[in-house]
Parts: sequence; structure tokens; C-alpha cells
Amino acid sequence: MRKRPCPALEERGVSLRRFFEEIPSTQAEAIRLARTDAPVGTFVVAARQTAGHGRGDHLWASPPGGLYLSVLVPAPPSAPGLLPLAVGERVRQHFEEAYGVRSVLKWPNDLLVPREGRPPAKLAGVLVDRVGERLAVVGVGVNVAIRPGDLPESLRSAVAVLRDLTSYPPKVEQVESELLEVILSTAELLESEAGRHAMIAACRRSLYGRGHAARVDGRPVGIIRDLGDEGELWVESGRGREAVWAGDLTVEEG
Ligand code: BTN
Repeated sequence: MRKRPCPALEERGVSLRRFFEEIPSTQAEAIRLARTDAPVGTFVVAARQTAGHGRGDHLWASPPGGLYLSVLVPAPPSAPGLLPLAVGERVRQHFEEAYGVRSVLKWPNDLLVPREGRPPAKLAGVLVDRVGERLAVVGVGVNVAIRPGDLPESLRSAVAVLRDLTSYPPKVEQVESELLEVILSTAELLESEAGRHAMIAACRRSLYGRGHAARVDGRPVGIIRDLGDEGELWVESGRGREAVWAGDLTVEEG
């Protein structure tokens, strides 16, 4: 393991960064650190992962040029399902403001870049793991400057790369320092009721697929209508309205 300086944190006089050239998963390492009483703000970052993963058993292909970041934050006092959506929304806002890159929020944890006449492409994913009562680990993967040729063939046409979408392509280290602040400040926002309300309103505005038919884990669930106050997805079918709390969403385009 090697430590490199991180400007955003050095300003605060702390060094909580754990950097790896290669690691199985920053998320697994951050969870391990959380269990050993590492403080809030500790974060793990890697140049590449050999076993990066998303929710469930999804793989997150992690070649060089991507950001692979996992951060220890305080567990939200309520509505834990909001955390991945809220982080996704604030990352979305940041990419739009800083780089002019427009994306949408796919429930429950992805940022997608719309494409003309084709399904949207995946730019980033967020993963949240709760560790005990006190902590959560927020993991973010972003295709900052990966080469699609380094991905498994089945994923190559399904990804969006930040470098190709902006006239100001950032370095991975810059995005790391920006998203670290985004993640920590989002967790702080969710500690207050006003912050939670503001976040859910913003997530609703960015929700991808509203009005479209959808499947969850392959099962048709009806039309996507809205997000609920705890981050659940509301869908409507012949059975009426129902809330979906977890699963893999597929939106039918067109
Ligand atoms: C998803 O699409 O389900 C979320 C993907 C999250 C990937 C990030 S990369 C950094 C951290 N380490 C992991 O193994 N996963 C997360």
C-alpha cells in the first residue's frame, strides 16, 4: 500500500487516504477498515480493481483510467435507501456544473448518459454498504478516462466515458478529490430533515424512465411513476400502485 497526498483533505490537516495501485475491491477494504474503528472520512482509492462489484453479485469492471473510491460516512439517521440515490444525484449535478456533462439518475444507483436512438450509456455507479449502527461505506465507480477496449466485450458499447463528453477532461485524481467532498457533504445533508427533503426533490427531477414501462429483476412491474420519500420506486400496473424497494431495473425505451 502507498499513500499519496490528497489536496482536499490536506487543507483540513488530515490524511485519511489509502491508495492502492491494484486491489480486489476498494469497497471490501473500506468495510474492513470501518470494522476496525477507522474514522468517518477515511477513504480507499485504487488505480484498478480485480474484483470490483456493484449491488448483489454484479461485477464492476475496473481497468486503469477509472475512479474507484470508497468512503466511510456516518450512517443516515433515517431513510437509508436515499443515500445511494442522493450521492448519485449530487455526482450528477457536479458533472453538469463542472464539466457540462448531462446525465440522468437511474434508480437505485446509476448515472446514465442519454444517447440518440440508443439506450443510455453507464457513466457511474454507486454502492452503499451499512457497517454496524454508526457507519456506511459509499463506493463510487466512474468511467473517467478508461479505454473501452480494456472492458469485457459485452460492456464496451454500454459505457460512457467522461473524457469523451467534455472539453475539459479531468484527471482521475481531480475527480477523486471532487467526489470525496460530494460524498461527505451529501451524507451530512441527509442528517437533517430539510436536507432529506431537498435531496428527494432533486432525485425526483433527475429520475430516469418516468412514464416508461419497467421490469425489476426481469419481472414486469408496470409504469414508473415516482420516487417515494425513502428512495423507493413507485410503479403502476393493473394491480394499482406499488412500491419497489430493491432490485435491478430495466426501463423499456421508446
Ligand atoms: C453498481 O453499479 O451496482 C454500483 C457499482 C459501484 C462500483 C464501485 S467502484 C468502487 C467501489 N468498489 C467496488 O468494488 N464497488 C464500488
